[in-house]
Amino acid sequence: MGSRKCRLLFISGSLRSGSVNGAALRTALDLLPAGTTAHLYPGMDRLPHFNPDLDREPLPQAVRSLRDEIGRADGILFSTPEYAGALPGAFKNVLDWTVGGGEMDRKAVAWINTAGPAAPSGGEGAHASLRTIVGYLGAYVVEAACARIPVSRRMVAPRGDVGEAVVVARLAAK
Ligand SMILES: Cc1cc2nc3c(=O)[nH]c(=O)nc-3n(C[C@H](O)[C@H](O)[C@H](O)COP(=O)(O)O)c2cc1C
Repeated sequence: MGSRKCRLLFISGSLRSGSVNGAALRTALDLLPAGTTAHLYPGMDRLPHFNPDLDREPLPQAVRSLRDEIGRADGILFSTPEYAGALPGAFKNVLDWTVGGGEMDRKAVAWINTAGPAAPSGGEGAHASLRTIVGYLGAYVVEAACARIPVSRRMVAPRGDVGEAVVVARLAAK
C-alpha cells in the first residue's frame, strides 16, 4: 500500500512581478519534505471582484478553480505583503471568494511573513488581518509552520526565487 502524499497549496498575496512573497513561496516549492507536494496558486489576477451575485452556480471558472484547488489541498501556505497596514485588495478578494465555498473549514494554514527590518510594523497589520479572516473561515493556524523570514527585493534571483543562502536555509528549516 502506498501512503498518500500531503498536498499543499501556496498562495502569494502579491501580483507584482519580482514579488518577494512569490519568490519565498517558489523557493519553498524546492524545499518540500519527502511525501509532500505543493502548487503555487496562479489565478489571483484572473478572479473577478467578489460579488455575492456571482457566488452561485454556475460559478465563474476562476472561482471554481480556486475552490477546487483549496478543496484538494491538505494545507495552505500564504505569503503576503502588507498594504496600508492591512492585506492587499487582490489577496483579500481571494479570501472573500472562499467564504461561500466552505473549503477552508478545518483547513490547516500557515504563513511566511517576509517583511524586512525597514517595514514600519513588520507586516503585523496584514498578518493580524489574515489571522482574523482564516479564523472566520474555520481554518486553523499551524503556528509552528509560520515564520518571519525577511526577504528583500535584492535577494530575488532573476529566475524568480530567493537566491540568498541564509533565507533558503531558514525556509528549509521550517
Ligand atoms: C500600496 C502599498 C502599500 C504598502 N503599505 C505597506 C504597509 O502598510 N506596511 C509595510 O510594512 N509595507 C507596506 N508596503 C511595502 C510592501 O509591503 C513591500 O514592498 C513588500 O515587499 C511588497 O511585497 P512583494 O514584493 O511581494 O510585492 C506597501 C507597498 C505598497 C505598494
